[in-house]
Amino acid sequence: MEKIGVYPGTFDPVTNGHLDIIKRSLVLFDNLIIAVAENTPKQTFFTVTERVEMLKICVKNYSQVTVESFSGLLVNYVYQQNASAIVKGLRAVSDFEHEFQMALMNRKLFHGSETIFMMTSEEYSYLSSSAIKEIALLGGDVSSLVPEIVVDALRMKI
Ligand code: PNS
Repeated sequence: MEKIGVYPGTFDPVTNGHLDIIKRSLVLFDNLIIAVAENTPKQTFFTVTERVEMLKICVKNYSQVTVESFSGLLVNYVYQQNASAIVKGLRAVSDFEHEFQMALMNRKLFHGSETIFMMTSEEYSYLSSSAIKEIALLGGDVSSLVPEIVVDALRMKI
């Protein structure tokens, strides 16, 4: 049976840290679906179409990876995709509390929902989409932290 993983997130925008998690989680799944949240409590800088398009360009060389947007509950989407597990990245202990709560809530909402946590690579442990947006808005250089397509998109938006 094919093992399908779902890597959900806001990806506003995708960073090198996200791409590292994507690449490393490919050893665990036959197919990985990157699920870009359409409705999020956060006000996003990029539209969902822009976030999906940037990710599609970044993963174009990985045949096992697809990028889609989703709305509604994550567990419903995961069930519809027939996926075995949700993949989340963990950077620091501070991420853990929130991620742990979400994983347990998802399991409560859908019995059998499993979440796999991937530890960040050290060099990305301080990286976040919010920091990227703030630095870019203040004129800083983010080119070593995000893919080129994101650098261009940030420049265009700003
Ligand atoms: O990149 P983020 O902001 O950490 O991603 C959070 C995301 C999109 C994975 C989370 O907000 C989510 O799952 N949203 C979908 C709605 C849902 O299922 N909410 C209940 C979560 S317990």
